This record gives sequence, structure tokens and C-alpha cells, in this order.
Amino acid sequence: MSSNHPDGHPFYRFCRTALADIRTQGRYRQFTPLAREADRYPVYEQEKAPATPATPACDHDREVVVWSSNDYLGMGVEPVVMDAAITAIREHGAGAGGTRNIAGTSPFHTALERELADLHGKEAGLLFVSGYVSNQASLQTILTSMPGWICFSDRLNHASMIAGIKGARGSTTVIYEHNDLEDLEAKLAAAPPDAPKLIAFESVYSMDGDISDIAGTCALARKYNAMTYLDEVHAVGLYGAQGGGISERDGVADQVDVIEGTLSKGFGVHGGYITASSEVVEYLRLAASGFIFTTALPPAVVAAALTSVRQVRKDAWRREKMFERVNAFRARLRKAGIPFTMTPSHIVPIPVGDAQRCRDLSDRLLNEYGLYATPINYPTVPRGTERLRLTPGPFHTDEMMDQMVTALSKLMRINAPVDVAQKIAEPVK
Ligand SMILES: Cc1ncc(COP(=O)(O)O)c(C=O)c1O
Repeated sequence: MSSNHPDGHPFYRFCRTALADIRTQGRYRQFTPLAREADRYPVYEQEKAPATPATPACDHDREVVVWSSNDYLGMGVEPVVMDAAITAIREHGAGAGGTRNIAGTSPFHTALERELADLHGKEAGLLFVSGYVSNQASLQTILTSMPGWICFSDRLNHASMIAGIKGARGSTTVIYEHNDLEDLEAKLAAAPPDAPKLIAFESVYSMDGDISDIAGTCALARKYNAMTYLDEVHAVGLYGAQGGGISERDGVADQVDVIEGTLSKGFGVHGGYITASSEVVEYLRLAASGFIFTTALPPAVVAAALTSVRQVRKDAWRREKMFERVNAFRARLRKAGIPFTMTPSHIVPIPVGDAQRCRDLSDRLLNEYGLYATPINYPTVPRGTERLRLTPGPFHTDEMMDQMVTALSKLMRINAPVDVAQKIAEPVK
């Protein structure tokens, strides 16, 4: 029997059992194929299609309003950004043609790196093929550069940071409680004073929508001679006078050693980056495997991202509009008695607390109301804290908000635990 026969190797049996377990736990993830309408964002088209293992059936074409996109400002459909990509693709072709060292460095790449360094007030920047890769490659490379590194990592850091930290063989990881500077200080104080130390943390934690104390963290870093590595993925474009993130808003960017970000969320395109001192960036450019050994971002993507970053820096109205919309949505939820987690950021989590109920709520929003809100289940969040994660943006209209609030009011009466159902029953009578 060949090893690729379903029964020929234990891994096939493992997959079958693991998939059955995931389904039983209500954690089976299906993609929802949705085609964005560039001129009507956040409206998408869902086309009639048969079911596949990874996608549910859709029995007719329909329009869907998406409430869970991370293209927070709609920059991915901004005409100047799209035009930059179209022009670059016509002039320079579709792909980069190689790694940055081989044939993949275009003038757009160097211009974007300079622009990002300037945005964060750093000497230099380095592009990666995604935000995930920028974290994984940078952290792993830093933490394997010298013997004895200790990485102090916030308990809720993103999987990409954890991948880099875990992949750094020989370094020690100390996890501190989420956003808890007392715990961080106790752990820094207990570490050998001479060991090289790095504190890795995020600014906006995207699942809970809370924000870290960057100034406080950097003060501890100075006290215990640690470097700081800050993931600003869910903040760049959105916070600060020019969209430089929470570190810009709080006036502390100069205190952070490495600021990491993405071009795929607030900037609406694709790719990841770090900014730091020239020496740190140069070292990572020459040593990070995840930078060196992969084909560069296509010039059209970089041209679009460069246009987007320049536009977002200038256009404060986009940030203001997004926060106005977030507040308008929260006011509607409050009025309707729909429970939501009040966060200091643009993220609106609606707690559900059970994987199957969360999945059902999301499915019914889509199937019965044409509204898409992603269910967030384990392992993205701890079991028992399942939620819908909504990200209202500048283009969600009052009417769209009313639709979502009406739908949630109706559905949560059926799906929510009794106490929540009672709490929200009154306003929708
Ligand atoms: C905190 C954080 N860091 C990094 C990433 C990865 O960024 P990208 O989507 O550009 O790979 C994500 C993705 O959602 C994230 O949430």
C-alpha cells in the first residue's frame, strides 16, 4: 500500500480524528467567498456556489455588507492606490522576479522603506512579504544573534511574534501577564542583570481592542537595560497625527527600538515592515532568513502601498471619520441593549462565549440578513471568550448600522444566554 493511501500512514488517521474533534468542538472554520466591490466598499458580492469542504453552499447571488474587514480605512479601494498598482503593473510587470538580493529591489521598495522610516521617526525601514513574516523573521533573528537573550513577551502577543520567539533556539522566553507592568517589572528584576533582554509587545491588541502603555514599558526597558520591540499592526494608519500608530499618538516612538507594522490593514494593501536604527535594520537585512530567501513583494503592491502611506499620512479626515463611525455604532448598540465590550480602540467585540453559538450567530447574520461578521473562536481567543469582532469603518452608513443592530437584536434573543436575552429583550419589543 502506498504511503499516500488514506490508510497507509498514521498521519492520515490523525487528520481524520483531529478534523472530527474540531467539528465536534464547533471550531471547524469555513471560508466565506466574498468578492469586494471596489466602488461600494464595504459591500461585497457573494456568488451562488456549491459547497466544498472549506466553503458552505450559497444558493443564490447576493450582496453582503462586511463588518469584519481589517482594511480599516478602505485604502485598498481608494482610486489613487488602485491606480498606482495598475500603472506599476503595466510599466513593471506582475511579479518582482526574485528576492531583494537577486532582482527584486525596485525604486518603489527603497522609497517605501524610506517613507516608513520617516513615518515612525526612525533611521531605516525594511520590507517583508507580510506582517507575519516581519515579526517571525525579525524576532527570531534578533533573539538568536547573541548568546543568552531573554525575551519578555506579553501573554497575548500575536501568533507571528510567538513563532519568532519560539523559533529562537538558545534564547529564554519569559511571559508576562497581559499589559501588566508590575508583573513585567518583577520578571525583569528577577532576570540576570547582564543578560541581553528584549521586551516584545503590541500597541492595539486586536481581539480585545485594548491598548498597551508604551511609555511605561519603555521606562522599564530603560531601567533594566532591555530593548523594546513593538507591533503596531492594528494601529498604523489609524492613530497619531500622521497614522504612525499609538507610539506617534503618545509621542514615544523615539523610545521604542523596533517598530513593526503591516501594509495590509490601515494601509489597505499588503506586506509587512520593521523600522529601527540603521544598524539594526542593516543587520536584519543581512541576517534574517525570512527576508533574504523569499521573492520580494511585487512592485505594483509596493507602489500601491507607498501611495497609500503617503495619502494616509496627509488625510487626518479618514481617521476622524472612522472614529466617528465607531462611536455612532457603539451608541446604537448601547441604545438597543446589545452587549459589547467597550474598548479604547476602534475594535468592537460582541461577546458570545461559546464556539457553536458564535458560529451560528455569524451564519445567521450572513444567511438571513446579508451581514458578515467573523466569529472569533479558539485558538484565536481562549475558550469561553468567543466573540464577534466588528470593525466599523468610514464607509459604514447609518442605514448599515441600523441593519446590523436590528439583526443582532433579533438573533441574540434566540442565541444568547437567558440573562443576556432578557437584558436586550426590552428595547426591541
Ligand atoms: C498583531 C498582529 N501582528 C501581525 C499580524 C500579521 O500581519 P499580516 O496580516 O500583514 O501578515 C497580524 C495579523 O492579523 C496581527 O494581528
